[in-house]
Amino acid sequence: MVASEATPFAKTGGLADVMGALPQALNAGGDEVGVVLPRYRGIALEGAQRVYADLTIWLGLAQWKVDIYRTESAGVPYYLVDSPALYDRDGIYGDGDGDYKDNHIRFAVLSQAALAIVRHVWRPDVVHCHDWQAALVPVYIRQLLAADPTFLGLRVLFTIHNLSYQGKFPLEILPEIGMDPRTVSTSALELAGEVNLLKAAIVSADAISTVSEGYAREIQEPELGFALDSFLRARANVLHGILNGVDYGSWSPENDACIAAPYSAGDLAGKQICKHDLLDEVGLPSANMERPLLGIVSRFTNQKGFDLVAEVAGELVAEDLALVALGSGQPEYERMFGDLASAHPDRFAVRVAYDNRLAHKIEAGSDIFLMPSWFEPCGLNQMYSLRYGSVPVVRATGGLDDTIEETTGFKFREYSGAALLETIRTALTAWKDRAAWTSMMRRGMGKDFSWNSSAARYSELYRDLLR
Ligand code: ADP
Ligand code: GLC
Repeated sequence: MVASEATPFAKTGGLADVMGALPQALNAGGDEVGVVLPRYRGIALEGAQRVYADLTIWLGLAQWKVDIYRTESAGVPYYLVDSPALYDRDGIYGDGDGDYKDNHIRFAVLSQAALAIVRHVWRPDVVHCHDWQAALVPVYIRQLLAADPTFLGLRVLFTIHNLSYQGKFPLEILPEIGMDPRTVSTSALELAGEVNLLKAAIVSADAISTVSEGYAREIQEPELGFALDSFLRARANVLHGILNGVDYGSWSPENDACIAAPYSAGDLAGKQICKHDLLDEVGLPSANMERPLLGIVSRFTNQKGFDLVAEVAGELVAEDLALVALGSGQPEYERMFGDLASAHPDRFAVRVAYDNRLAHKIEAGSDIFLMPSWFEPCGLNQMYSLRYGSVPVVRATGGLDDTIEETTGFKFREYSGAALLETIRTALTAWKDRAAWTSMMRRGMGKDFSWNSSAARYSELYRDLLR
């Protein structure tokens, strides 16, 4: 596999959770999976073994020096691509000034390094690439290596975790990713006068998958197709929807080192302790033990539907509820939650941060978990919430619609503040019937979204590709 994030090495969102758990599940099922990842700043090399030194990657006229290190996590080999000029920086994709200007080069080198690993270190049967950062792998194989015996018969599966991040760059960068239009066909890479790496992978990979069945349907329509729907429809016969799983080793209230007390469907007492601890942690008074506590853990982007929260903020504060939000991203949403917290410090709290420990405490300590997403390819937090007995309120889109049922959570379909508000009110009313609410929590806690069955589907897909 090739990707830009994987727990425990580097994480900004759900892709990392998938890359930390799916390979392990596949290996447990008898496959042999290794993961190629940039060695960002902060990824220690102690204990890692250098398996290739001084690899030179040529992209046009520029050469990039790379070392490859092999380390293990949960028994899975991770190949770290070490090139300090490209990856030894504060951020993964960018810093306070926005995305790094050379991201096309940074991830072209990742893709080339993955191909060098295939050539020199370990040749798999299938290369499974994730998102635009690994999108050049199938393009290089098709355009540059088609006659190279090492790559004969090698198949490429490309997984889309989010169609809205496409890796778009001006056409002038083509030579900088080793695809000079004067010497090689670049039409696969071009769309609407730009380089579009996601589109290039969609047309070049042997098969495509995305992270829920619902999203696999949605991205073939204009509404959520982000201008790539026609390319996806053209490949409908090799486009698969495979739901992500949950790593219950990291996300279970029975056994979570981050939370104040363990609990389970059979013994829920610890959940109240967790709620109290969460209130303490974010500085909300204990009086909130008596009202429903809503939790949010999210990247603050348009995708996640916080414009709907902003739309009905005035009505929300009038309800008898408390709310804790953890996230960071677009300034308007950081400000919106910040304003709510300063105006109502007794009931609203926000932490603008990335904080894994607090993310676990919110899953455990809240009564209701809010995900009003505009679109959601899969979404992991709603599945974590089910396991922690924090009843999800979600918009019925993509993976949220596929994983939340009327009996385990609350859904609304229309993308409007009014629909969100009505659904939150329904949940608040339901919360008051403690017996019915507890049954709903228990039903959610009993759902099983472990990786086994999804990993088996990937495994089958790899085998189909090789037939
Ligand atoms: P996405 O990948 O679109 O961000 P997912 O629901 O698939 O959404 O996954 C998000 C993951 O990132 C979850 O593991 C969630 O707990 C984590 N996460 C998101 N924001 C934060 C944050 N501010 N602090 C800690 N963890 C976060
Ligand atoms: C993306 C999507 C999210 C999905 C995650 C892992 O970040 O936004 O819905 O769960 O990838 O596949």
